[in-house]
Amino acid sequence: MPARKFLEFVCLGMFLCSAFLFRGSLQGEHQRKLYKELMDNYNRLERPVLNDSSAILVELGMTLLQIIDVDEKNQVLITNAWLQLHWTDVYLSWNPELYPGVKNLRFPSSQVWVPDILLYNSADERFDATFHTNVLVNASGYCQYIPPGILKSTCYIDVRWFPFDVQKCDLKFGSWTHNGWLLDLQILAVDTSTYIPNGEWDLVEVPAKRNELYYECCKEPYPDITFTVVMRRRTLYYGLNLLIPCVLISGLALLVFLLPADSGEKISLGITVLLSLTVFMLLVAEIMPATSDSVPLIAQYFASIMMIVGFSVVVTVLVLQFHHHDPQGGKMPKWVRVVLLNWCAWFLRMKQPGEDRKILGYSYHTVENPCFPPSSDSGVMCGRSPGSPAEDRELPRPLGEHAQEIGKILEEVQYIAQRFRDQDEGEAICNEWKFAAAVVDRLCLVAFTLFSIICTFTILMSAPNFIEAVSKDFT
Ligand SMILES: *[C@@H]1O[C@H](CO)[C@@H](O)[C@H](O)[C@H]1NC(C)=O
Ligand SMILES: *[C@@H]1O[C@H](CO)[C@@H](O)[C@H](O)[C@H]1NC(C)=O
Repeated sequence: MPARKFLEFVCLGMFLCSAFLFRGSLQGEHQRKLYKELMDNYNRLERPVLNDSSAILVELGMTLLQIIDVDEKNQVLITNAWLQLHWTDVYLSWNPELYPGVKNLRFPSSQVWVPDILLYNSADERFDATFHTNVLVNASGYCQYIPPGILKSTCYIDVRWFPFDVQKCDLKFGSWTHNGWLLDLQILAVDTSTYIPNGEWDLVEVPAKRNELYYECCKEPYPDITFTVVMRRRTLYYGLNLLIPCVLISGLALLVFLLPADSGEKISLGITVLLSLTVFMLLVAEIMPATSDSVPLIAQYFASIMMIVGFSVVVTVLVLQFHHHDPQGGKMPKWVRVVLLNWCAWFLRMKQPGEDRKILGYSYHTVENPCFPPSSDSGVMCGRSPGSPAEDRELPRPLGEHAQEIGKILEEVQYIAQRFRDQDEGEAICNEWKFAAAVVDRLCLVAFTLFSIICTFTILMSAPNFIEAVSKDFT
């Protein structure tokens, strides 16, 4: 029994081995032969053309997968893209009938001739950021080489119209060492069908253009293919986070002029608004490149709103100065009265609170007897006035004896009356100044409201694609 089992085991082993060997030789016979034949005399340094004076045609295409980042500060665009390089290598063709089953072959790019196409405006640390994949070759020698890569390219990002800007970034590809007579570069296609949308940028289009450059030294052309990534910034984010707060804050700045001067909060409101604007401006400055060749739209807008707020603080100081004017500080100059109290007040349809009273108050100075002032301001005095008729009644009889005392009393009374008169006059002056302060406040409210509305519209709407941005992003 053990002998038989052993025999069985040997037989099975032999069968398996032979099957294995047979199958192995069948699988790779043609491939191996073909690889050997093609590679025997192959020199990857040789430009694969039959006639050395003719150019090899290389077609270049690009598949844009994603815009990873647009770095305004460093002026760099990072994209995820696949290049597509097609050419015909005459030394890598074979007769498909002689090698059945071998449709195409793959060669590592380090073993066959590959055009030295590079991204001219690369900003990558390694310069060539592509991954060197295999080259796929079919029986006609047609080579397909698709190196994928995270391309980092320099791009002049003009932030003049930020956040309503459209950026155009070039990706310029060309052969690093071959001129146009050795390597003819042509456009294949641009494929954006697998593009993954970006949250910040809308891809508008990716046109490709073939350029031919001639240098002074030589007659041969230097062709390159430039893909231009045209993208539009999506404004919603910046609209919500920068523009709307700024508009609101500028609205708050106008409230400074509505706040009563007596509340004592006018200046602090103005300064708070100024500070919050500064915070938003810092946010903008963080995104923007530190360039002075063009002022971004949003910075212009912030600067003008900041100017308005700054002016409003200055004007508020003036208003408070008027409001708390020292009555001893003197009367209002005539021109100020004319301009503020007459013209501006008329223009703004404002009326001084005690206007009627004031007219009576002036007539009051001409009245000889200070005891009957029609003014309600001197209520205290009139409260006392019943006392004086009583004195009057007593006057005639003991006139002689009390003449001196009465004279003194009269003096006192006159003194008191004078004090009240002075007080009233001071109050009138104060009221006049307060009214002037109110007029200035109102005037500034109107002027600054107009100015900030005009600023908001003219600055923001001056962007070339403002309408497009708003209609696409805010709806
Ligand atoms: C190579 O091409 C050039 C011009 O294209 C031609 O003048 C020349 O005769 C060609 N040489 C051969 C060996 O075919
Ligand atoms: C090789 O590919 C090219 C391009 O797709 C095609 O035109 C050619 O016919 C192919 N050759 C063979 C032998 O399949």
